[in-house]
Amino acid sequence: MASVAAERPAITFEDDATENPFRDDVLAGLAQERKAIPARWFYDMRGSQLFEDITRLPEYYPTRAEVAALQEHGAALGEAIGEGRIVVEFGAGSSAKTPLLLDRIAPSAYVPIDISGDFLRESCEGFSRRYPELPVFPIEADFTRPVPIPSELLDHERLGFFPGSTIGNLEPDAAVDLLREMHRTLGSGSLLLIGMDRIKDRETLVSAYDDAAGVTAAFNLNLVHRINRELDGTIPVDAIRHKAVWNPDRARIEMHLEATREIRFQVCGRTFSLRAGESVHTENSHKYDEPGARTLLLAGGWEPLEFMTDAESRFMIVLARAMGDGITP
Ligand code: AVI
Repeated sequence: MASVAAERPAITFEDDATENPFRDDVLAGLAQERKAIPARWFYDMRGSQLFEDITRLPEYYPTRAEVAALQEHGAALGEAIGEGRIVVEFGAGSSAKTPLLLDRIAPSAYVPIDISGDFLRESCEGFSRRYPELPVFPIEADFTRPVPIPSELLDHERLGFFPGSTIGNLEPDAAVDLLREMHRTLGSGSLLLIGMDRIKDRETLVSAYDDAAGVTAAFNLNLVHRINRELDGTIPVDAIRHKAVWNPDRARIEMHLEATREIRFQVCGRTFSLRAGESVHTENSHKYDEPGARTLLLAGGWEPLEFMTDAESRFMIVLARAMGDGITP
């Protein structure tokens, strides 16, 4: 298909309440005993480009596995979802995935929600070329809050679409909050199709986040360059290395920026230090098995109907139905 929005995770993770939330997050995160910076700050222009490169790496299987699952289960999805729903995509349409769904379910309208107007516009242009008859209602908004659906679409049944296993970048409590917001946006009786990466062997997981070509390392280290550039940072980049570890207790890959020697540096005029071997935690990528995915979805107000994986069982797409939110026993 014509290229639409670049592959990019569809989440902003938090509301920007202050003047410079990047500075606030970095200063607060570096002042903690266990240093951490929220993953959302990866995605400046360079970071978004590097993420797109990651999705094409031989070791990074999730994008290809999700596309394969959508292709393999397209007919079953078409049957289970039916025709004529409006599709609300959380994030601007991802280049390869959305058409695989739309082609199966003949939606009555497509509603991409994204915080970035630029990505939305790019995405919508591609969709209008590919689906000239399909009404498209782009909404520039933060979908971690409830988003009003355009009034002319209120009569239609809805399907939410949240591919990419971006849900996995959130801690379980935040993931549940997001699923509940999606429930509020879409309403009872809606369906949700969500991508969730599966737990697998440590080697496959670690190499997906520590590839031989060093693209994921560059993606992680780009955060250091960004801090130095935008926040008057003096972090010695040559003393920082990318680290990806599998945490089996939390079922997640963790990315860290680890100091290879003791360093002192400044950010916005404040002094920080890292001991040799100490790290700044920069990302979690949770992986799921079926029971774990079920528990998370139920807590978020969604009853799983079908779990569909690619042939190699690396990734699952889950179709779920919004549970009612009235009085319960
Ligand atoms: C956006 N997100 C789902 C990616 C992931 O796999 O957790 C981000 C990523 N980080 C490193 N590689 C890819």
